[in-house]
Amino acid sequence: MKRHKIGLVGAGNIGGILGLLSGLEGLGDVVFLDLSEGVACGKSVDLEALAPVMGLSGSWKGGSDASLLEGCDVVIVTAGVPRKPGMSRDDLVEVNAKVVKSIAGNVSRYCPDAFVICITNPLDVMVGLFQRESGLPTSKVVGMAGVLDSARFRAFLAEALGVCAHDVTTFVLGGHGDSMVPVPRYTSVGGIPLSEVVEMGWLKASELESIVDRTRNGGAEVVGLMGTSAYFAPAASGILMAKAYLRDEKRLLPCAAYVEGKYGLEGVYVGVPVLIGAGGVEKVIELELSGEEMKLFESSVGHVRELNGVLEGLALEGKI
Ligand code: 2OP
Repeated sequence: MKRHKIGLVGAGNIGGILGLLSGLEGLGDVVFLDLSEGVACGKSVDLEALAPVMGLSGSWKGGSDASLLEGCDVVIVTAGVPRKPGMSRDDLVEVNAKVVKSIAGNVSRYCPDAFVICITNPLDVMVGLFQRESGLPTSKVVGMAGVLDSARFRAFLAEALGVCAHDVTTFVLGGHGDSMVPVPRYTSVGGIPLSEVVEMGWLKASELESIVDRTRNGGAEVVGLMGTSAYFAPAASGILMAKAYLRDEKRLLPCAAYVEGKYGLEGVYVGVPVLIGAGGVEKVIELELSGEEMKLFESSVGHVRELNGVLEGLALEGKI
């Protein structure tokens, strides 16, 4: 059976880690596509040399010619500008929209059957733009955000409780920004509902509140510390989604997916629990949210819609 082909559009910090993790997970042959041909080729050559050391199969190629995407099974889009300290993800909408539009055209030309995972920010708006511009089915275009935000929630909770982060399960809904909705009610520690963990006094309600806040600001925390966006956890989250597709794992994951006719929404990309398998986004799971959860979710969706409005304005002004 032919090895899968993984297209990494953007060979920056996240892209490079994606290339490494793809090799470690044995996902297939990797192509880096970046405007900087040197960076794309340099990281490919470097990873080709890593392979014998780590006993990896697969190949890594790189360049700036979009035809490198020919026949990709999965494309992970990280190209664009990451934020700097003091910036919000929304501040990137104009500069990154131009990048995403051009990539979408190339993907529809060279690998229209690919499963596309978008990571470029502002995520919920960029993934919707990508899908519209590429014309790929909504089931084959998804945004990586909820897996990352949930991972932060899991890690911070595990740290507070002194347990293995792997045993904390949860998901985060809504947009990938300050209005994201961590959902304590759907969170468990080794199967124990988080509400009971609080009731038994293992975690104070005030501690939980600050962990929810820290999760919402998880991206900004890293940007503030190192002057640029995170890349290890975002890359690992993207690879988890790519694996679910390539291996038909039927993973139930929080992702920015196209929601129509569920949650009272008509056609918007936003973070919800979805099933990812060989069909891409095979199912959008509609939860019975409480009044408070629905209010927070709707407010987050409202923010995504507002930013989509900014994007439409930029398009009308011919700026993107
Ligand atoms: C983050 O939250 C890069 O948006 C990504 O770190």
